[in-house]
Amino acid sequence: TGWASAMARLFTFLLTLLGVHLVAAAFKICAFNIRSFGRAKAANQKVMGALVQILSRCDITAIQEVRDSRGIAIQMLLRELNRYDRSHHYSRLESKRLGRGSYKEQNVFVYRMDVVSIIDWRQFEDEKIGNTEAFVRGPFAARFHSLFTAILDFVLIVHHTSPREAAHELNLLFDMCKELMEQWKTENVMVLGDLNAAGAYIPANAWARIRLRQDLGFHWLISDTEDTTVSHRTCCAYDRIIVHGEELLGAVVPRSAKAFNFTQALGLSEEEALGISDHYPVEVNLRLAPKAQREL
Ligand SMILES: *[C@@H]1O[C@H](CO)[C@@H](O)[C@H](O)[C@H]1NC(C)=O
Repeated sequence: TGWASAMARLFTFLLTLLGVHLVAAAFKICAFNIRSFGRAKAANQKVMGALVQILSRCDITAIQEVRDSRGIAIQMLLRELNRYDRSHHYSRLESKRLGRGSYKEQNVFVYRMDVVSIIDWRQFEDEKIGNTEAFVRGPFAARFHSLFTAILDFVLIVHHTSPREAAHELNLLFDMCKELMEQWKTENVMVLGDLNAAGAYIPANAWARIRLRQDLGFHWLISDTEDTTVSHRTCCAYDRIIVHGEELLGAVVPRSAKAFNFTQALGLSEEEALGISDHYPVEVNLRLAPKAQREL
């Protein structure tokens, strides 16, 4: 088995080199609310075909709205993704099943394990009975480590706010970030996901009270004018990427944060696109480490 594991390591190393040679000169982090991703979608070849094309663009994707009590759908997605993109090996880290009552969702980090690894993670709690201060669905945080990025370690916090509680939960996220930065002794955190941080969910007069927005340490990379929704009837920046920490901000490729319009990229009709999700993924690029660039 020593020989086998040595061969496996060599193979992974070669894949890594190959991957770095083949992909773009940046490291892409994405967040994607795949509306109600469960077994029905996982069984739909057209939807799965589109999803693997979308996910294979990203080194890390923070997926929201995974809805399958048996966990089969996400397993199928990973299998298809690894089949589709053989230049990388994709792995996943799942949150708890989150939510009040019987309606549950999971957040899942899908990441290229030949490029980046997870060294720690933390699940924040759902609302406890009698505690109105908590989240409807607790955010999920993971600490990533990569030799390929201009920053060695960074924290991603994926969250899907409850629409009606969006303003309140954005404030809770501020406290949560402070707590996590203290616990993990780092300033470099990125909050990403469907925060419902737009439109009717955040009344214009609420912004002034939202510390995550007002605190100058937090940089909102997806602006209010971005449209992260698929339908042409809606136009809202629900999905966001927010960066804290000078080192992480410095590692971000300027102006790389945007929504990924897969309707256009995959040449779909609006109806076909809505079959995949009602949200576009949002994404941002990190610069590569000088060493990784030399290998290109
Ligand atoms: C996405 O692309 C489609 C097809 O080109 C276009 O009709 C739509 O307006 C675009 N949506 C956004 C939000 O840019």
